[in-house]
Amino acid sequence: MKNPPRCPAAGAPDGVAPSAARGYNGRMRTPLWPLAPLACLLACQGAGTPPMNASADTHSFARPDQVRSTHLALDLTLDFDAKVASGSVTHTLDRRDPAAPLVLDTNQLTIEGVADQRGEALPWTCPEAADEFLGRPLTVALRPDTTTVTIGYRTSPLAEAMQWLAPEQTNGKQAPFLFTQGQAILTRSWIPLQDSPAVRVTWQARVRAPSGLVPVMSAGQRGRDGDAYTFAMDRAVPSYLIALACGDLTSRDISDRCAVWAEPSIVDAAARELGDMEQMVQACEQLFGPYRWGRYDVLFLPPSFPFGGMENPTLTFATPTILAGDKSLVALIAHELAHSWSGNLVTNATWRDFWLNEGFTVHLEQRIMEHVYGQDRAQMEIALGMKGLQEELAGLPAADQVLHIDLTGRNPDDGMTAVAYDKGAAFLRRLEQVFGRARMDAFLRAWFDEHAFQSVTTATFVEFLERRLLAKDPAAAAQVDVARWIEQAGLPEDAPIPDSPLFRAVDDALAALRSGEAPGELATDGWTTPQWLRFLAGLDEPSAQVLAALDRAFRFTQSGNSEILCAWLDLSTRRGYHAVDRRLELFLMTVGRRKFLKPLYQALLDTEGGKARALDIYRRARPRYHAVSQHTLDAMLGFEEKTDAGGGR
Ligand code: BES
Ligand code: ZN
Repeated sequence: MKNPPRCPAAGAPDGVAPSAARGYNGRMRTPLWPLAPLACLLACQGAGTPPMNASADTHSFARPDQVRSTHLALDLTLDFDAKVASGSVTHTLDRRDPAAPLVLDTNQLTIEGVADQRGEALPWTCPEAADEFLGRPLTVALRPDTTTVTIGYRTSPLAEAMQWLAPEQTNGKQAPFLFTQGQAILTRSWIPLQDSPAVRVTWQARVRAPSGLVPVMSAGQRGRDGDAYTFAMDRAVPSYLIALACGDLTSRDISDRCAVWAEPSIVDAAARELGDMEQMVQACEQLFGPYRWGRYDVLFLPPSFPFGGMENPTLTFATPTILAGDKSLVALIAHELAHSWSGNLVTNATWRDFWLNEGFTVHLEQRIMEHVYGQDRAQMEIALGMKGLQEELAGLPAADQVLHIDLTGRNPDDGMTAVAYDKGAAFLRRLEQVFGRARMDAFLRAWFDEHAFQSVTTATFVEFLERRLLAKDPAAAAQVDVARWIEQAGLPEDAPIPDSPLFRAVDDALAALRSGEAPGELATDGWTTPQWLRFLAGLDEPSAQVLAALDRAFRFTQSGNSEILCAWLDLSTRRGYHAVDRRLELFLMTVGRRKFLKPLYQALLDTEGGKARALDIYRRARPRYHAVSQHTLDAMLGFEEKTDAGGGR
C-alpha cells in the first residue's frame, strides 16, 4: 500500500465536507441525537486500515460482521456527455452489532448526502486520502432505529469500473457506449457498497439513459417504468457481479433461455458464432446440476473491453475478438457459462481464494468443451493451456506460484495469472485421474449443491475435499499431496499434461519445415485453431524470410482469428518480419484486451528500437484502453500520465 489512509483527528472535519445537517437530496434535517460521541466513533472507525476487518478480506474496509448490507436499490441517470452516473443507492441493513456504524467501500466517488429510511440525514465521514487500490471507506453512523441507508452520489469520469466510449470506438460508429467492469474491486468506483465477495446482496435498479441507448444489466428481470429501465436480481450475488452496459444494443434469441446482445451491425454474426450456447448450458447442467439463474445471455462489447469475458450473472460480457466466424474461440463462452456454477453460485470469499473461482471454472469449461465438441478439441485446448502455464511459471516469483496466494497490500488483479486458472484446473484434473471421473463429477456437483449462493474459503474446500472424497478412499488419497498443490510453488510432478494425436501432424509439419520443405507443401489440410497455435508456438527462431514464405502460404497477417493473429504478430515482431507492422499498429489501436496487448507490447520492447515504437503507439492508443489495461501497460512501459492532459482517458 503506497498511500495508507490517514485517520482524521477525532471530531475534526476531514476535508471531504461530510455534513451531519445536510440530508440526501439537499433536505435539511436536524439530527435527532447528539453528535459528539458520533464524531469520535466515526473518526476512530472511519479510516482504519483494512486488516482490522474481521471478515479477513484484506481488500475491503467493510465490517459485514457488524453491519451487513443485504439488498441494494440503485437509481441512476447516465450522462454520456459528462461521463457521469448520478443518483442514489439504498442499502437494507442486517445490524448484527447495534452500536456499530455502517462501513462501505468507495473509490473516486462524490458523496452528496446520506439519509435513513425517513429521509433524515445521517452523519458520515470519508477520509481525504485514498488508498491506492482500496479507495476510501465511507462510514455512516446509524441511529438505533435505522433500517436502510440511502446515499446520494455521483461517479467520476475517471471511475475505474466504467468505460465511456466515444461513437468511433464502437462497431456502428454512431452512438456512444458505456460498460462497467466490477471484478475484482472496482464496483466501489460506481456504487458505494460493501465491496467484498464475502458479502452477497439481492439488488434492484432503475436506470435512465439518453433515448436510443438501451441499458442492460446482470439481472434476471428487466422492465420499464416511465423513462427508466428497471432491473431486479433476486438471487444474492457478490458486489463484483453487479454490471451495467448501455449502447445501441439489440438481441437475437438462440433458445428459450439464451440470447445474444450486441450492436446491430454484429448481432447476426454473433448469434451464428454462439449457435451452440444452449447445448453448452445443457452439458453443464447434466454434469454439475441445474442452471439456477433463469436466462443465460451473452453481450458482445466493443473491442476495448479489457478481458476476454466476464461472467456477469444472466449476462456474460464478452470481447468481440472471439468472433472468428467458425466457432473456434467459443471455449471462452463455455468458461464464462461455467462460472454460473463455480464463481457465481459458489464464490471465492476473498481474492486469496480466487483459484476456487477460476481453477474450477477452467475445469468445468474443459468438461463442457469435451461434451459439446469432443475429446480431441478439449485435449488440445488443455495442452495449450498447460504450455502457457509452464511458460508463465518460469517468470513468476515463488510466492505468486501458489494457488492460495497472499495478496494483502497488493492489487488483487495480481492474482489473475495462469496459476489460479491452469494450475487450479490441473489440480482438479489430477483428482479426477486418481478418483475417476464418476466420483469426481459427483463430488463437484455436491460441492455446488451444498454451497449454493455462499461465499467460501480455501479452508472450506479443503475440509469438504477431505471429508467427501479423500476419506472415502485412503489409497487413492495417498496419491495426491493436497497441501503441495494448494500451498506450494511450482507445478507438482503429478500434474496431468495431455497430448493429442492431432498435434502429431503439427509436429510432423514443423519437422518437415525444419528440413527445408516449402511452407506451401506442408500437410496442413483441415487443421483447426489449436493446431495452428501449436504450429506458431513450435517455430523456433524463424528468419524473416521464412516468415514471409509462411505468410504467403497461409496469409497469417490477414487472419480474422484473433488468437492466431496475436501469436503471429508477436512472433513476427520478435523476428523482425516488418510486413506485419501496420497490422500490428491497427490491432493495438482497436483492441483493448489485455491478454493480447501485454505480449504484443512486450514483443516490441524486446526488439531493438522497439521501445520508442511501443511508446509512440501507446501514447495514441492509451486513451482508448480501459483503466485495467492502462494500469498494466503503464507499469510495463514505464509510462507516466501527464496530469494536465485532461485526465488521460
Ligand atoms: N472472471 C474472469 C475475468 C476477471 C478475473 C476479471 C479477475 C477481473 C479480475 C473471467 O471469467 C475470465 O477468466 N476471463 C478470461 C477468459 C477465460 C477463457 C480464461 C479472460 O478474460 O481472459
Ligand atoms: Zn474466469
